Amino acid sequence: MEAARVIARINSNNNFSGNYWHLELESAAIARRAMAGQFINIKVNDNSIPLLRRPLSIHSVSSSKIRLIYEAIGQGTQGLAKRKPGEFLDVIGPLGNGFNLSKTSSKNSLNILVAGGMGVAPLVFLAERLKLSQPLVLIGAKSKNCLLCIKEFKSLGSRVELATDDGSLGFKGKVTDLLKKTLSTIDHRLSTIYACGPKAMLKAISLIAAENKIRAQLSLEEHMACGIGACLGCTVQTKLGFKRVCHDGPIFLSEELIW
Ligand code: FES
Repeated sequence: MEAARVIARINSNNNFSGNYWHLELESAAIARRAMAGQFINIKVNDNSIPLLRRPLSIHSVSSSKIRLIYEAIGQGTQGLAKRKPGEFLDVIGPLGNGFNLSKTSSKNSLNILVAGGMGVAPLVFLAERLKLSQPLVLIGAKSKNCLLCIKEFKSLGSRVELATDDGSLGFKGKVTDLLKKTLSTIDHRLSTIYACGPKAMLKAISLIAAENKIRAQLSLEEHMACGIGACLGCTVQTKLGFKRVCHDGPIFLSEELIW
């Protein structure tokens, strides 16, 4: 379905931990089109500064509401954090391809969701779409204060395991090491991995998926200028040539990417 450009009302915009914020927008036009893994592009304010729109993964939707989470760390997202309920934002979406869920219906298939840091953002939406299969969710972060959305995944019936670099909660080490350990203890022949997070994590998951002969769908995070496929600022190299993360992705099969 085509993306819509809408002026969306801000229902809420709340700081929930550290620099992390929840934003809820009102837009039935986007909510009813949205698929897990897609994103929206937000014009943060009416000035030309910051000039660019900010892409944010869709975190969840209900009939007319779109929920997003973001980290207020740059000029754009810090500006977004100043916006108040009742104000309006110029938004384009949903954009991108979304996760392909057509091969996840087998009763014996285990869906493994792997999130690094803010990579939880689109995976909550995905866990909601996959909730009948009770996916296994592995969340990694530097320390326990940076682990996000644990309750949301659990409330959707997902099994959740945690990894922290400093060992302050869960497995001590990288979430990719936790993934390797998990795969060594289960029959993963029919599993699918869905992952979102930093590039190094996604690259490691590609290798793990290849070694274990598992399908993996990876959500790439790239700097985006136009967000609609026009500027070529977000291209990545794949076995099928250069592709635009904003238009051809952000979800790619691990085996098609060249790292
Ligand atoms: Fe412009 Fe992707 S951000 S083509």
